[in-house]
Amino acid sequence: MVFHDVIIIGAGLAGMRAAVEAAKRGLNVAVVSKVHPVRSHSVAAQGGINAAMKSTDNWEDHAFDTVKGADYIGDQEAIETMCREAPEDILELERMGAIFSRDETGQIAQRPFGGAGYPRTCYLADRTGHSMLHVIYEQVLKFGVPIYEEWHVVKLFTEEGTVKGIIAYELATGKLHRLNAKSVILATGGYGRIFRTTTNALTSTGDGMGLALDAGAPLMDMEFVQFHPTVLDRTGILITEGARGEGGYLLNSKGERFMEKYAPNKLELASRDVVARAEQTEINEGRGIEGCVHLDLRHLGAEKINELLPQIRELSMNFAGVDPIVEPIPIHPGAHYSMGGVMTDVNGATPINGLYSAGESACVSVHGANRLGGNSLLDTIVFGRRTGIAASEYAADTTYEAADIDPALADASNEIATILNRNDGELTNTIKEEMQQVMQVKCSVYREETTLTECLDTILDLRERYKNVSLANSSDTYNTELVSCLELGYMLDIALCTVKGALNREESRGAHSRLDFPARNDNKWMKHTLIHKAGEDFNISYRDVSFTKYEPTERKY
Ligand code: SIN
Repeated sequence: MVFHDVIIIGAGLAGMRAAVEAAKRGLNVAVVSKVHPVRSHSVAAQGGINAAMKSTDNWEDHAFDTVKGADYIGDQEAIETMCREAPEDILELERMGAIFSRDETGQIAQRPFGGAGYPRTCYLADRTGHSMLHVIYEQVLKFGVPIYEEWHVVKLFTEEGTVKGIIAYELATGKLHRLNAKSVILATGGYGRIFRTTTNALTSTGDGMGLALDAGAPLMDMEFVQFHPTVLDRTGILITEGARGEGGYLLNSKGERFMEKYAPNKLELASRDVVARAEQTEINEGRGIEGCVHLDLRHLGAEKINELLPQIRELSMNFAGVDPIVEPIPIHPGAHYSMGGVMTDVNGATPINGLYSAGESACVSVHGANRLGGNSLLDTIVFGRRTGIAASEYAADTTYEAADIDPALADASNEIATILNRNDGELTNTIKEEMQQVMQVKCSVYREETTLTECLDTILDLRERYKNVSLANSSDTYNTELVSCLELGYMLDIALCTVKGALNREESRGAHSRLDFPARNDNKWMKHTLIHKAGEDFNISYRDVSFTKYEPTERKY
């Protein structure tokens, strides 16, 4: 029997940060990842990580900005925890070896980001996630944590409300493996890939949320999906908010700096939902430029662009043929971040004993209806650490009682064999592309009952068609088509949760913007959406939001 005290699914920042805590405590911890750790999606985070580092800033202001950015539906106790602990986590990253960009006094430099009342985003040029991920990976290597690499988890095994282990498919051999554990942490990232245009990696397919749903754990606030305002035309490539933080302008086809109309005080640095909606409105009302608006950096000058935004220049030149030193960049909104996820407390615990979640796969909830730029890297580091500690303490205090995982293994094996042996069904990509298209068009920046209902019907139909999915490749080794097919099962469940939550929530709040219910309605909707899977049914219930001292008011930027 293969056994670990703690198994972490996902080798991004949250997962590896948790692994470091378990390893420090001398526990037998392992990481399971469907890609090599430094290919995890955290590597793509560009602009920075928020923390009140300076004596002229303070964590309460960071907390207030986050509560307001979340459109008042974030849990305030969790937000306070994150913002209070942020500065120490940044210093810990420095001690691990992260070389943050410096200001003229030699202190960690901080740039302005959207929705923030103070320039509190620490950064490493425009490659912050890349650097952080490599630094944490070095720590994981230092502690000798075993990594099951290119293993895709297909089942969580639970018994009487307690997690007992996982079943995973090894890509290189096509074998299914049982790994027993006292605690399991889901750190699998978000689900941007259910949309056609997304900044997310191909791997962001919501696996952890799908596993949690199947195991009986609730997902929370799935209707809140962030559309990042600056995604490079037709590519899904992120153009960091740092570009606006450094002074970039947004222009429409008339050359107008249109944010003056929508957010007169913060302009391009309003919160992301506000900027994405403004861009979409300009495009919808005929003031776009071939489905885009322009991000203009020319006035920043070559020196600043080359020093602070080198990757943005490179990406724009390589993928849009545009050099931002001499031309504006064509951009539009694109799916970027899932505020919702597996419901957890501030220690990553879910309602299932021994099951935890951290990072984008979790909903603590610190981002509410709209995350502030720079708070996602922070979330991974603060809650990765806290969850690593909590899952380790749980494992240390628990005696493992061996469970019979064989029936679950047999189920997983049969499910895979059925897919491999079927040869008259529809291909994964046909179903996936239809899902991505309908989500993109009907559950996007703007939503309304008619389009959401059509979207729901299509997703239900696609779930039926998925029961007859088949593959072109029946190989036992490196069958990436099989993994993609298994991921699609999770994605369809998650798309369904997203649309159902969006259809039910008859108000506009943060990134959830209903044309038919344009106002926020605190009397009726100041509550979190929970969704449980029970067989074929997805049941919605609601939960109170936790408040400390920040009273909901109208949100203006
Ligand atoms: C960005 O650099 O704009 C993305 C970082 C984030 O989403 O926080």
